[in-house]
Amino acid sequence: MWSEKTYIASSASYRRNHSPHSSTQLRFSSVSVHSSLTMASISEVPDEPGQPPALSALSLAQTSQDSKAKEQIITPFDVSGGVDEHGKAVAIDYDKLIDRFGSHRIDKAILERFEKLTGKPPHRLLRRGMVFSHRDLNLILDKYEKGVPFFLYTGRGPSSDSMHVGHTIPFEFTKYLQDAFDVPLVIMLTDDEKFLHSPKLSLKECRRFALENALDIIAIGFDPKKTFIFADTEFIYSDDGAAFGFNILEMSKKTTNNQIKGTFGFNDTNNIGEFGFPATQSATSFASSFPFIFGHNLKAVNKIPCLIPCAIDQDPYFRQCRDSAPRLGLMKPALIHTVFLPSLRGSESKMSASDTDSSVFLSDTDNQIKKKVGKAFSGGQDTREEHERLGGRTAVDVPFQYLTFFLEDDEQLEHIRQQYESGKMQSGEMKATATKELQAYVWAFRERRKAITPEIREEFMRPRQLIFKGMPSEKEQRAILEEERKMLQKRLVLVEESLQRLQAAGQAS
Ligand code: TRP
Repeated sequence: MWSEKTYIASSASYRRNHSPHSSTQLRFSSVSVHSSLTMASISEVPDEPGQPPALSALSLAQTSQDSKAKEQIITPFDVSGGVDEHGKAVAIDYDKLIDRFGSHRIDKAILERFEKLTGKPPHRLLRRGMVFSHRDLNLILDKYEKGVPFFLYTGRGPSSDSMHVGHTIPFEFTKYLQDAFDVPLVIMLTDDEKFLHSPKLSLKECRRFALENALDIIAIGFDPKKTFIFADTEFIYSDDGAAFGFNILEMSKKTTNNQIKGTFGFNDTNNIGEFGFPATQSATSFASSFPFIFGHNLKAVNKIPCLIPCAIDQDPYFRQCRDSAPRLGLMKPALIHTVFLPSLRGSESKMSASDTDSSVFLSDTDNQIKKKVGKAFSGGQDTREEHERLGGRTAVDVPFQYLTFFLEDDEQLEHIRQQYESGKMQSGEMKATATKELQAYVWAFRERRKAITPEIREEFMRPRQLIFKGMPSEKEQRAILEEERKMLQKRLVLVEESLQRLQAAGQAS
């Protein structure tokens, strides 16, 4: 059960995160940053557990012959910025990604629609461009305007038991969407994906990580009445997961190996589970996978659209899904993409769970956070005098970039930017400010996390009716429950028969 304490803690964070500050858009450029990290320091970063061997750069990026330049690589399995012709690492170029992936930029008109529809200023991640791209978002908003409910779907690949602050960004944003639009949400934990893709991880470990991560995810503050969390290896093989399993099958049949090779860069050495998994991640986009939430009336259920908030590296999965959905007579899911929280090492890469120096973990102490941010890549000048003369470079300064993710107050952020760029604020002070903000974020998270018990998790992970506008009628819910009762009664009869047989055998011997 959801304890009162948790509820209060999470609604306090809700107020903190949604206090109505001016919605002026800040000019924030985390996205086109050059830095002095060399290629060597990037390739030292080990693969994340749960990821397949890195795709060869050539398979997805063009390499020009006479320079050292390399294209950036952004796939679900590998994220790294490009390298310029001098061999220097450059930041991830999100504009280029929009062009290459063929998605659409989140523009001012969309921000205004959000504000109008929700009656609140858009979330800071939207205002500041960290939620930067989408597919078909306007269709979702059109329907919502006409009273058609949609559902949210997001997920996490449980590759370790420690999540870092970068992992919480899409979840924080999803929580904002759930609160602002008052809609149901399904959260998928892909323990099967991580098992299939990692040579090192056992099935048992991945299953354990899924359960551990669920506690952290719940602590973001999702509404227990509107949120269903599932781990693939548990749900797919359960009675309640049958409809989901059927959708996975349908999706599998419409997807060829050629398509998967094209989308993910797989080759004949990838295992067959890896080839099959995208159908599983896709099948969650369809309301018909969850009859206990949306009901059994397929004609109505297939009209409920899905919106997927995710980091941009997940887009290939859903491009594939959007390709195949119409061939099943199903609606394409809409998408809304976030950027990555930069690594402590610089904006050329994202935080990585397997590289502890790149990330601030949700389990880090105040002291650890202070030490890590103290060593973060700085846009300050080499000496105090130079800094005062030339000013700091906020565009490459990692502590400043963290402030743009976590500091709620637009005016304060703008003030810090001006002080730093004019050389009035030194990088020590910038680091101290970012440290304080991150400590506060992690502290608030940990306070909420303390209250999340296995019982609360069980409730979130129990297939059940969710409460939302446009939920199935009472009559239909009753029918669903009656169906369930009949099934359980049949089972009970079988169990009792087996027990009697055992007893009889015992008496005979
Ligand atoms: N594949 C994702 C990962 O490795 C997990 C995931 C599944 C997901 N479904 C999703 C993430 C939907 C975002 C949205 O992390």
